[in-house]
Amino acid sequence: SSAPLVDPFGRAIQYLRVSVTDRCDFRCVYCMSEEMTFLPKAELLTLEELDRLCSAFIRFGVGKLRLTGGEPLVRRDVMTLIRNLSRHLGTGALEELTITTNGSQLARHAEDLAACGVRRINVSLDTLDPAKFLAITRWGKFDKVMDGIAAAKAAGIRVKINAVALKGVNDDEFDAMIRWCGENGHDLTLIEVMPMGDIGGETRLDQYLPLSQVRADLARRWTLADTDHRTGGPARYVRVEETGGRLGFITPLTHNFCESCNRVRLTCTGTLYMCLGQDDAADLRSPLRADPTDAALEAAIREAILRKPKGHDFFIDRRHTQPAVARHMSVTGG
Ligand code: GTP
Ligand code: 5AD
Ligand code: SF4
Repeated sequence: SSAPLVDPFGRAIQYLRVSVTDRCDFRCVYCMSEEMTFLPKAELLTLEELDRLCSAFIRFGVGKLRLTGGEPLVRRDVMTLIRNLSRHLGTGALEELTITTNGSQLARHAEDLAACGVRRINVSLDTLDPAKFLAITRWGKFDKVMDGIAAAKAAGIRVKINAVALKGVNDDEFDAMIRWCGENGHDLTLIEVMPMGDIGGETRLDQYLPLSQVRADLARRWTLADTDHRTGGPARYVRVEETGGRLGFITPLTHNFCESCNRVRLTCTGTLYMCLGQDDAADLRSPLRADPTDAALEAAIREAILRKPKGHDFFIDRRHTQPAVARHMSVTGG
C-alpha cells in the first residue's frame, strides 16, 4: 500500500471526516441562521464519487472515517454509501466507520448501521429539556432524538452524547446530563462553541462558555478522575466516579489541541479543508473527475496535506466580533 500521509509538522493523518450533505433538518442557533440556504443538489458529489474519495484516503492509511453533515442521515441513500464503505472494515484497512448525527432519523437507521459494522456513534444533544431543545434546534423533535438514541442502544451501538456548552442556555443542566448519561451508559462530551459562520443576532461572546471554568465547577460536585482514554478525536476524558461514566471536553479555545491533530475534512462538493479553524482548502473534485485512475486525485491529496496549517484561528472575546472562519460548521460537520 501507499506511504502514509504526514503533514509538515510531523502529524500523521489517520482520520477523515466527510460531510455528505450540507443540509440539516434542524437549525441550531449556534450553528445556522434560521433562513440559511443550501447547495443545489446538482453540486453534490455522487455517492460513488464520495466512495472513491474515501477509498483513496483509506489507501493512504486513514483508519477512522466519520460521516457528518449537515445531518448525514438526511442525504438520500446514505446507507448505500455506508454499506459500501464497510467493505474496508472487512479487509482491516479501516478500523472505525461511524457518524455524527442529530438523531432525528436514527431510529429507522439504527439496525442497518449496526449491520454495517458501526459500533459507536456520536449524537448531538445539548439539553434534556424538550422546551429548551426546541429553542436551541428551532425545528427539532426531541422525542424522535430520544427514540433514535434508544434504537441505537438496542441495536448494540454505543452512543456518545455531544453537547455544545452554551452560556445561560444549558449551563444549568450539565449535572443532569452527567447523571442521565451515566444511567444510560453513554459517554458525554462537552464542546466549546466555535466562531464559525454568521448566525445572525447573537454574538459568539453571548454564547461562549469556557470549559476550563465548567470543569472547575463540576469538580466541586463530582469526583473527576483523569484517564488516558482516547477516541482519536480532540476530546480529553475524565471518569466521573459517582456514575462510572466518561466525560470528555473539547476545548479549542481554552486548551489548544492542534499539536496532536490527526484529521482533515471533506465536503459534499469535494473540497478538502485541512483545518476546521482555517479557510484554506483544496479542490479534490477536479482531479477526481479528470482522471478515472485516481492518480491525479492521489497527487492532489498529498499536495493538500503539505498545506495543513499548524493550528486554528479561533478566538472569542469582545474585540473579535466577526466569525474567525466564514463558513458554517455545517459545511464540514465539525
Ligand atoms: P470521537 O471519535 O468520539 O472522538 O469523535 P470526534 O470528537 O472526533 O467527533 P465529533 O463529530 O463528535 O466532534 C465533536 C466536536 O469536536 C465537534 O463540534 C467538532 O467540531 C469538534 N472537533 C472535532 N475535531 C476537531 C478539530 O480538529 N478541531 C476543532 N477545533 N474541533 C474539532
Ligand atoms: N461550535 C461548536 N460546535 C458546533 N456544532 C455545530 N456548530 C458548532 C459551533 N459553532 C456541533 C454540533 C455537533 C458537532 C458536529 O458540531 O452540535 O455536535
Ligand atoms: Fe486540527 Fe485545525 Fe482542529 Fe487544530 S483546529 S485540531 S489543526 S483541524
